[in-house]
Formats: sequence, structure tokens, C-alpha cells
Amino acid sequence: MTDLSQLQAGLLSRIEAAQDIAALEAVRVEALGKSGSISEMLKGLGKMSPDERREQGPKINGLRDAVATAIADKKAALEAAELDAKLAAERVDLTLPPSPERRGRVHPTMQVMDEMIAVFADMGFALAEGPDIEDDFHNFTALNFPPKHPAREMHDTFWLREDQTGERKLLRTHTSPVQVRVMRQGNEKLPAWIANGQEPPIRVIVPGRVYRSDSDATHTPMFHQLEGLVIDRNIHMGHLKWTLDAFTRRFFETDAVVTRFRPHHFPFTEPSCEMDVQCDRSGGSVKIGQGSDWLEILGGGMVHPNVLRNCGLDPDEWQGFAFGLGVDRLGMLKYGMPDLRDMFGSDVRWLEHWGFSAFQAPNPATGLS
Ligand code: PHE
Repeated sequence: MTDLSQLQAGLLSRIEAAQDIAALEAVRVEALGKSGSISEMLKGLGKMSPDERREQGPKINGLRDAVATAIADKKAALEAAELDAKLAAERVDLTLPPSPERRGRVHPTMQVMDEMIAVFADMGFALAEGPDIEDDFHNFTALNFPPKHPAREMHDTFWLREDQTGERKLLRTHTSPVQVRVMRQGNEKLPAWIANGQEPPIRVIVPGRVYRSDSDATHTPMFHQLEGLVIDRNIHMGHLKWTLDAFTRRFFETDAVVTRFRPHHFPFTEPSCEMDVQCDRSGGSVKIGQGSDWLEILGGGMVHPNVLRNCGLDPDEWQGFAFGLGVDRLGMLKYGMPDLRDMFGSDVRWLEHWGFSAFQAPNPATGLS
């Protein structure tokens, strides 16, 4: 059977010499494929006499097994070598410096908003939101604005065109309409974005955008407010003052900040006040806790009995305070930005300078980055 052993030796040496999977596969097809040399021999067994078959069968089968095993072994070796080569070629050099990448920054207003929310959340306030496009009822009427109040007129309010029903909606001029939405929750079918079931006691904050036709260094046509509303039994101005003083110290992370409450007027609070923060605005930046300037940062007061009535609450049973903080102004004070208009100019250089990293270490006071 030199024929068989020669064939075996030839095949094994070609298998051994195969440089890659494709060459190995060619040898396999030639020997073990459908009409391969070994396959043909196996087919030939059927035509042999029983004696011949008994003799040839084990030899041909042995040849087939030897060749098949050699191919499988070689295949495993080639695959391992291929993987090694790939790993070597695709090696990553971890010592190379990273390629510089432009990163976006967190806008100071959004940073300040998050800081404010964190402080009030710590005091136990829940968060509510309302629509930017409001109706006259929530923005004015329910808040006890007399019918001819100047704030309803064109120079302050951005009015939208009449809709099909003849109603003129507006861009909300403050976040106070959300007070009404929260208090009236029991009486109105409200969209899902307002938390459910706000029966007093109520303790909510409402961050959001507001719009007024106004523009100078401390006014922009769009700005941000954070409304606060607390309704309970036996609430008085002392609670309002303490809450805002505690908030201010916590927010500015210093006890050195000096605040001043002034009497004021709002149709929806009685008594009403404004709060100013002492600051120094000379020399192109803003510093708090010093100087002779005062920047107004909020309006507030005790919720007017008419507003409580308009919201279905009995003023003899419930009282509360409300305030509206100017978010962007607090940002100017805390981070020293001198002109409010720059904040919404979308100047990338300004944002890169005043913006915040999204990947900062958490602030120990607020737990926020
Ligand atoms: N809504 C008032 C404003 O925008 C601020 C305010 C809020 C006053 C709540 C009193 C109570 O000026």
C-alpha cells in the first residue's frame, strides 16, 4: 500500500506547508471534498469484494482520519497565529496623549438653576412646572391683577395673535401663574407635568423662563425665575424672611452676604416686599458682601386672600408666602458677570469663559457639580 502511504505523506506535507486558511482549505477540498481523492477511494469500497474491503477499509479510513486530524490541528494553529498577528498590529499605545476635543460647557443660568433647586430641595420643596405660553386668567386675572393694570398692556407683555376661539394667549411674564396652577389642581384638569394632588400644605418651587419686553444691562426680554410657594396654617412673613435669608447664605456659600427687604406692591401678595443683595459693581465685575450697590433679586410677600379664593382655598383657614427669584441675576452676583444681556448672546467665547464643566467635582455645599 505504498500508494496510500505516499498519498498520506504528500497530503500531510502540503497541510504542514499551508501558509493560510485558504491554502489549507484547498488541500481539504482536494482530499476530503465531495470528489476529493480520499472521498473517491471511500466510494470505491462499495465495489470491492468483501475480502478486499475488509483489508482496504481500515487503511482508507485511517488515511482519512489522519488527514482530517492534521487539517484540524493546522487550522487551529493558523487561527492562533492570525489572532496573534492581529493583536500585534492593532496594539494601542496607552502612553500616547489624547487628541484634544472641544467640549460643550454648562450655561451659567442652568448651573445656577441646579444649585438653587438643590438648596430648596434640601429644605423640603417639591418641584412644579408650567407652560411658557399662558392665558390671561393664570398670568393675571387669578393673581388679582385689576382689569386695567398697566402690566397687561403691550409694552410689558408679549401677546400672541388671537386663536380660533378669539382668545389671546401670552408669553408668561412671571412664574407666578404656576402658583395658581398648583393651588387649583383639585379644581382643574391639569396636564401630567404638574405633580398630582397638591392639597395644602403646599411647598413648591417653580423654575422656568419668563418674558417681558425689556432690555438693558440688568433686563433681557427672556430671563429665568424661580418661584416659591408655601401654603399652610399659621404661615407669616417671618417664615418668608427666614427661608430667603437661609437660602441666600447657602446659595452664596458665605454668611458675609448682606440682604435688605423693602416694602413693595404686587397685586397678588399683601404685604409685599422686594429683597436686594449688597454688592459692588465698580470695575466691570460684581462682588457681593461689600460696596454701596444693591441688586434686586426677588419679589415676594404673603399670598393675597383674593388669590387664595380664586384658587378655591379659604383664606381664614390657609395662608402662605410666595416669592419669585431672578435666576440670571443671582448668577451675575455669584459668578461676577457684569451684563445680563451677554448671557443670552450665544457668543461661544463668552460661554467658554463663563460656562461650567459638566464633569466638575461635586460642590461640598450643594452636592452638585
Ligand atoms: N411675580 C413677581 C415678579 O415677577 C415676583 C413675585 C413672586 C412677587 C411671588 C410676589 C410673590 O416680579
